[in-house]
Amino acid sequence: MRRIFWLFALGATSGVTFVPPPPPKENHRSVLILGGGVAGIIAARTLHEQGIDDFMIVEARDELGGRLRSKQLGADNRRVTVELGANWIQGTQEENGPANPILTLARRHGLKAAESDFYDSMTTYDETGQVDYLNVFNKAVADYTILTIAGGERVQRKQVDSTCRTGYSIIGAKPRTPHEMVSEYYMVRELYLRFDHKLISITDWEYAQTPEKTSWIASSWASASICPCANNFTYDVDQGGFSDGNLFSIDQRGFKHFIQAEAATFLTPEQTLLNATVRNIAHSADGVVVTLTDRTNITADYAITTFSIGVLQNDDVLFEPPLPTWKQEAIQSMTMGTYTKIFLQFADKFWFDTQFALYADRERGRYPVWQGLDLENFMPGSGIVFATVTGDYSQRIERMSDAEVQAEVLEVLRTMFPNTTIPTPTAFFFPRWFSDPLYRGSFSNWPSGFVSPHHTNIRANIGQRLWFAGEGTSQKYFGFLHGAYFEGLDIGKRVANCLNTGNCASLPFTEEVLSATPYVA
Ligand SMILES: Cc1cc2nc3c(=O)[nH]c(=O)nc-3n(C[C@H](O)[C@H](O)[C@H](O)COP(=O)(O)OP(=O)(O)OC[C@H]3O[C@@H](n4cnc5c(N)ncnc54)[C@H](O)[C@@H]3O)c2cc1C
Ligand SMILES: *[C@@H]1O[C@H](CO)[C@@H](O)[C@H](O)[C@H]1NC(C)=O
Ligand SMILES: *[C@@H]1O[C@H](CO)[C@@H](O)[C@H](O)[C@H]1NC(C)=O
Ligand SMILES: *[C@@H]1O[C@H](CO)[C@@H](O)[C@H](O)[C@H]1NC(C)=O
Ligand SMILES: *[C@@H]1O[C@H](CO)[C@@H](O)[C@H](O)[C@H]1NC(C)=O
Repeated sequence: MRRIFWLFALGATSGVTFVPPPPPKENHRSVLILGGGVAGIIAARTLHEQGIDDFMIVEARDELGGRLRSKQLGADNRRVTVELGANWIQGTQEENGPANPILTLARRHGLKAAESDFYDSMTTYDETGQVDYLNVFNKAVADYTILTIAGGERVQRKQVDSTCRTGYSIIGAKPRTPHEMVSEYYMVRELYLRFDHKLISITDWEYAQTPEKTSWIASSWASASICPCANNFTYDVDQGGFSDGNLFSIDQRGFKHFIQAEAATFLTPEQTLLNATVRNIAHSADGVVVTLTDRTNITADYAITTFSIGVLQNDDVLFEPPLPTWKQEAIQSMTMGTYTKIFLQFADKFWFDTQFALYADRERGRYPVWQGLDLENFMPGSGIVFATVTGDYSQRIERMSDAEVQAEVLEVLRTMFPNTTIPTPTAFFFPRWFSDPLYRGSFSNWPSGFVSPHHTNIRANIGQRLWFAGEGTSQKYFGFLHGAYFEGLDIGKRVANCLNTGNCASLPFTEEVLSATPYVA
């Protein structure tokens, strides 16, 4: 049973009379918010709610939304809006429980979304065509659940972290066949087995990195629920505990609509600077000077940077003085995964009727996950099907031409459907997140060498003037829209508090991250 949702506006817009902010000094603001994604917009809204309107969002692109990025695709008579970036509201709401704040915004702005079933709507293929190996798939799901429970136990016993690969091997899951490998790749679990807080998690497919590159402990908790604190999210509204659903945006205004509409409720044109790329951030005890690529300087008392960890890692934005060593180590210790959707449109649908399909190639990660959108409750008649690749495979195809990638993808379709003549697609597109200097990947992934003091440091402010927020600074929800939301909210509150009360308490940091068990006696 598939359902389709229109998330209707819950309340009418209240009749607040608009009071224009006092005219700002030319090129000076109390606060500059660098980056106009979810974290930046929510930080701005938080400042506004605390009575601070002398701020400006500086954004390189020509619209707000960041990694909520949609594109119109398809033949002239059949244009469809698809999502190049975020697509799901992951974890929604359980009855009267706390709601994912992204769900709340989506409801407020009437986003159209469909219930996504990661688990029971699956067709499986390999190099001989359609083959049923759902039993192997279900075994992989069970292994993943065991892995995360074992990860949670490691947290409680204060054992060191390791990679997901090590964890799998320890629990005896050693995938060797293509069926086992692709099932591990797409590992879904439903946690109602042991926890009432259901949230779905997947290794490569979700973390955009291989088990070798992913922290065992962090993958066990970030995705929901192993540590006792996370289990309690269900009850703690402030922690944003949500539940089992996954809603997939099919809104033809783009998923970004919910955040752009939210921004429109409080942002004025003077508070938004689009098409403005930050090159340098000079910071001192007196304030901040932000220099754009066109050499314009904007000064501020405070700055909140919301650039992705990938941008910070690659020196696309420079800091003056350079960030302290402890900050740089934290930034470089996090990893940025890449998650790439490859869209095809065909005149006629010839593929599976399930929401998902797996393709088991001999090479792990070769065009493994497929999704059809030409489905009754999604985008019927759209002729759209897409494949997802991640990590190194994403980097590989970003180096190839579109035509070369298209040829490979069509070859895989011929393998999956040996008795069908695969026609030429009427549209073909994939985004290059890894090479994009505004992102350098799709979302952060916690590697096993990244320890909790690193996390403290990735979040910490520098002096009292320079603050950091975004998906990548969220301990519990890194990689997700709601991670960006909570970080924008928290850092926005801290900066507002600093301006309003003079209480500018710094976040903690660790000057040197030491080993609890040194190698040298
Ligand atoms: C392919 C993909 C799929 C995803 N799927 C999901 C999903 O289904 N569900 C989910 O919850 N999350 C998903 N995510 C993650 C989610 O999109 C992010 O966690 C979230 O959007 C990050 O928001 P942010 O504000 O932290 O960063 P961003 O959205 O990156 O905002 C930072 C902003 O800074 C701007 N910027 C960068 N450099 C400069 C510069 N030098 N000068 C000026 N501006 C600059 C950027 O243009 C951007 O607008 C996905 C992401 C990707 C890429
Ligand atoms: C930003 O740049 C785009 C493309 O160059 C242009 O169409 C748009 O008008 C610009 N927007 C603003 C607000 O400057
Ligand atoms: C979690 O909730 C349970 C039951 O409400 C409670 O007993 C426990 O102390 C909580 N744990 C934490 C870490 O808050
Ligand atoms: C802009 O600010 C930088 C400091 O970051 C300074 O070196 C430069 O001279 C300033 N440029 C102008 C035109 O004021
Ligand atoms: C393809 O056709 C052959 C010969 O007719 C048949 O044996 C085979 O089962 C078909 N394969 C699929 C995947 O339908």
